[in-house]
This record gives sequence, C-alpha cells and structure tokens, in this order.
Amino acid sequence: MSVTTNDPTEAPGNPLRGLDLQRLRERTSEKWRAYPADVLPLWVAEMDVLLAEPIAKAVGDAVAAGDTGYPSGTAYAEAVAAFAAERWNWTFEASHATLLPDVSLGFVELLKLVTRRDDAVIVNSPVYPPFYHFCTINGRKVIEAPLGEDGRIDFAALAAAFELALGRGGRAAYLLCNPHNPTGTVHTATELARVARLAADYGVRVVSDEAHAPLVGHGTTFTPYLSVPGGENGLAVLSAAKAWNLAGMHAALGVAGPEAAEDLSRVPGEMSHRASHLGAISHTAAFRDGGPWLDALLTGLAEQRALLADLLAEHLPAVGYTPQPGTYLAWLDCRALGLGDDPAEHFLERGRVALNSGIPFGTGGKGHVRLNYATTPEILTEAVERMGASIR
Ligand SMILES: Cc1ncc(COP(=O)(O)O)c(C=O)c1O
Repeated sequence: MSVTTNDPTEAPGNPLRGLDLQRLRERTSEKWRAYPADVLPLWVAEMDVLLAEPIAKAVGDAVAAGDTGYPSGTAYAEAVAAFAAERWNWTFEASHATLLPDVSLGFVELLKLVTRRDDAVIVNSPVYPPFYHFCTINGRKVIEAPLGEDGRIDFAALAAAFELALGRGGRAAYLLCNPHNPTGTVHTATELARVARLAADYGVRVVSDEAHAPLVGHGTTFTPYLSVPGGENGLAVLSAAKAWNLAGMHAALGVAGPEAAEDLSRVPGEMSHRASHLGAISHTAAFRDGGPWLDALLTGLAEQRALLADLLAEHLPAVGYTPQPGTYLAWLDCRALGLGDDPAEHFLERGRVALNSGIPFGTGGKGHVRLNYATTPEILTEAVERMGASIR
C-alpha cells in the first residue's frame, strides 16, 4: 500500500491511503464529530487526507513567524491564474480578481453586484443546498431549472426559468455550479457557450461557482465559465478549499470576465479583508505548489469511483449511480429500494453510515443520497457493505 509522504523530495503517494479509521476518529472537524463513534461518516465535503506538504509548510512557516494578521496582496490571484493557464488553458489579470472570505460568502457577494433584493437567482436543482439558503437570506428569490434526467443542464428548463425570473420584473442572475455538486457533472465547453448565449439573449448575468474545478479528473477537460465565448460579462468564484481539503482555512477568489471587471471593483474592501490570511496563504501554496499532490489525489479518486461502482453493483444493485469525473461526491438514486423520500435516514439508523439526504438539494433530491467517497478504500468498502446489509 502506498502512503502519503511528507518528504518533499518524494512524489506524493495516494493521499486517500494516508490515514486509518482510528486516526480519523481523533479529528475534531464536523465530518468526524457530528455522529456517534459507530457511524461511518461519508457526508459533508471534507476529505480523509493529510495536507499536501507545500501547504503544511507554508502554514507552518507563517505560524512560526507570527504572520497571522489580515490578508494582503495578489499572490492568491497570481497562483490561481498560473494554475488556470497551465491546466485549463485560461488566464486572467490579477487586477480582475479579488479575495473573498470563502466560496459561499463569495457568490453571495458577487450576486449582490448583479441583482438587488427580490430579484431572482436561477439554480440547477438538485444542487448544493446552501445555494438556496444563502440566496434567500440575502433577499433573492430562487427559481429552479432542474437538470435533465441525464444530470446535464436542460436548456428548455433553463430558458423557462429565465423567462419566469424576468417575468417578475427586475433583474436575474444564474448561479451555475461548475462542476455540479451533487452529481459531479462537468459541463462541457459547448454547453457553457450555450449557457452564455442564452444568458445574453435574456440579459441574465452568470455567476459561476467553480469550487470543485481543480478536482476534475484526469482525462476530462474542465472549462472555466469565463473562458467561453460570451462568458466575458460573467463572474466566478474559485478556491482551493475542496481540492486540497482546506475548508477550515477560509479564503476564495472572485474573478471577473473583462466586461464584468467594473462590477467586481464594487466588492467592498472590507469583504476581502474578511478572508483568513492563513487561508489565503494555504490556498496560494495549494495552487502554486500543490499540483503533484493533486495529481496523486485525482488518481486515487478515480480508483474510488471505480471501487464504489463495483461495491454498489455487488451490495446494492438497485441503486442508480453514474460515475462522473467532477468532485468526490456520488449522487445515488435509491428510489428502487423502497426506502421512501429520505433513504439517508434509513442508512444512518440501520446501517450506521452517514450520508447527505437528497431532500435539501431541492427538486430531484427525494429518494436520493449524496455519498462522499474521498476516504480510504477500506472505509468506503465497509460503508457500502453496511448499506447493503441494512436493506436485507
Ligand atoms: C459547490 C460548492 N460551493 C461552495 C462550497 C463551500 O465552499 P466554502 O466552504 O468555501 O464556502 C461547497 C462545499 O462543499 C460546494 O460544494
């Protein structure tokens, strides 16, 4: 078994094989503390990995130097721009980017630039639940454009949602999830160019949440929304939080297409100030020096996806699962199991496995669960075995 190494001279091993259940149970983060100790937690989007060595070093150096004040400078933007140029063949000016406290508060802030209270925000359900929460507490009205049966954007539904949104008067924005959480769907360049054309036809502004972008697996192309023709007046939020497991190190980067730079300049300086300096340091190190670790992770995640498909075929063959290359989240259709609207309740009570209920993901969520497979192969195996045993 390969193990994660902290020796910077060696290529990183599979980060998903660096820890075991006993050590993971010592963690104090939400994933490991929300449920009793007999429950295997495969829910919230934390990964069961050790930090990439360059990140641990950057944070350790900052702590050792007492460099724990407020964030400043453009290092984060420059690191993301270099990463995007190398991996996605897309670049942007650091002056078209701004530091944000995290992805969620970031998209709220960007939506504020292009909509007002009572305006509509369109989302593709089923979708990451805070899309609903943050938009509604911010006084926006969420309108759903459900994904198609194939888990991809349904353009007829999107056009209908744009129509409905603008029919209410006021402005509208489309909060795109690229790649999509929970399905893991990676939107293609063709789909995104079509989004841009439709948005232009209706005068809808696009804000793209690209939190999972670096996680798009080898062999699949991630397309930044701002890179497609017509994406020039879009806004995007990027972050290292998901791909390098830095949710506890708050920071994110808002980026504007060239025609939206003026909008982005209206983000109050106070907002950038609210990012964590240690967060920005850790994210910068991730994008700048965390490539080898990320590559090892992507290989490990591809193995986990294949393992999950095999385990489901063996233990829960009635569950629908289409492996997708974006994110480390699997969207499982459990409707054929006859467990009602919320199978997560059953799997927790009878299987002692914690998954996300599909219901908060909006229309299309009933009868589904979201499973986080960014864990060790042993834990994933035991979890699916338990789930299988729970229905017999
Ligand atoms: C699509 C998406 N956006 C945002 C977030 C949250 O990011 P942050 O913790 O930086 O707000 C997540 C977390 O899982 C996510 O999946």
